[in-house]
Amino acid sequence: MASFRISGLTKSYGSNVIVDDLDLEIEEGEFLVLLGPSGCGKTTTLRCLAGLETPERGRIEFKGDPVFDSSARVNVPAHKRRIGMVFQSYALWPNMTVRKNIAYPLKVRRMKEALAAGRVEEAAAMVHCEHLLDRYPSQLSGGQQQRIAVARGLAARPDLVLFDEPLSNLDARLRDQVRTEIHRLHESLGFGAVFVTHDQSEAFALGDKLAIMREGRIEQLGTPQDVFQRPATDYVAGFIGMANRLELRRTGAGWQTKGGVDVLVARDVPDAPALVARLWPDDVSLHRDSESVPTGAVAIKAELLAAEFGGRQYHVTVGANGEEFRLQADSATHGSWLRTATEGCPVLISFRAEALHVYSEGGERALASPGSAG
Ligand SMILES: Nc1ncnc2c1ncn2[C@@H]1O[C@H](COP(=O)(O)OP(=O)(O)OP(=O)(O)O)[C@@H](O)[C@H]1O
Ligand SMILES: [Mg+2]
Repeated sequence: MASFRISGLTKSYGSNVIVDDLDLEIEEGEFLVLLGPSGCGKTTTLRCLAGLETPERGRIEFKGDPVFDSSARVNVPAHKRRIGMVFQSYALWPNMTVRKNIAYPLKVRRMKEALAAGRVEEAAAMVHCEHLLDRYPSQLSGGQQQRIAVARGLAARPDLVLFDEPLSNLDARLRDQVRTEIHRLHESLGFGAVFVTHDQSEAFALGDKLAIMREGRIEQLGTPQDVFQRPATDYVAGFIGMANRLELRRTGAGWQTKGGVDVLVARDVPDAPALVARLWPDDVSLHRDSESVPTGAVAIKAELLAAEFGGRQYHVTVGANGEEFRLQADSATHGSWLRTATEGCPVLISFRAEALHVYSEGGERALASPGSAG
């Protein structure tokens, strides 16, 4: 049974509909990552779940019981929902010590026994901050403040913890550390979580499920593997980093880009005059001559536009008759010539026709993609 079930959730500010008839289910103990661009309504959705905003319409159910239902006029106040929240900006009370900050959710829920039983110290220890209990937030580093915010979110042992981009203010190394800590805490404590981010690698690393959000709705819900292998729409494909996008027109028996480059589409597609194809940068190979192009691969003549050193790989952009392709080229194979290659230098790129993910012209609907057809 779903632990949390959200149906028809709608929230507007003025005439702007921010959360638009949203449906979502979170299984018991599941770590759900909500991924979407700035302004798509992620924070607003969390605030509605936590009871910090009142939606106009919809129903939020916890284990079968409504905590919000617009038609039945149910609206359980925030402190009575068994939900913890960790905010992007930490939002610690500056005038309270760490101890009082962590104790706060226990106090408002009147959990006297938990306070007496040392739950505050236990929560601080979970994030390795037991030595900081008597300091004030201004006496802590950013990473310590965020750990305390996590401890405060977990202290009352909520059934669901909402994380609103908790790592985005941390530098890269700390972000990895705190990410791993959150992952471990989830494994050991088993709370359900909704974790908001707009970083796809964070989403893939943490999520049992991903929900990709667009303009107040969920565009795709699935496991990270599902979403990675079969992005449901052109929008999802672009958002998760499938950066190469080709608009194709039918030409007799085949397909061509706007610039007249022939592209083989090796799968059944409906009888449409146009398609959108997506391709991972990793699925495109770079060649200096046609000899190294594997047999059966689609090869396209192109010119080098940019090559940026990225350690093991170069991040390369090439142009082919007005179409741009992004790809990764192995430094060991290509580094020696890419280092000094000039813009405009002729190259070849290749990819397997099966690597194309194909969408309708509008991009709303997947027609066929690897694994689902052909
Ligand atoms: N209190 C408010 N009053 C009016 N408009 C608001 C309010 N809060 C949010 N909005 C608007 O609602 C939209 C969605 O905001 P929200 O904070 O949910 O986005 P988000 O997906 O969390 O974005 P980000 O990734 O930048 O945090 C934005 O256009 C924002 O300006
Ligand atoms: Mg936000």
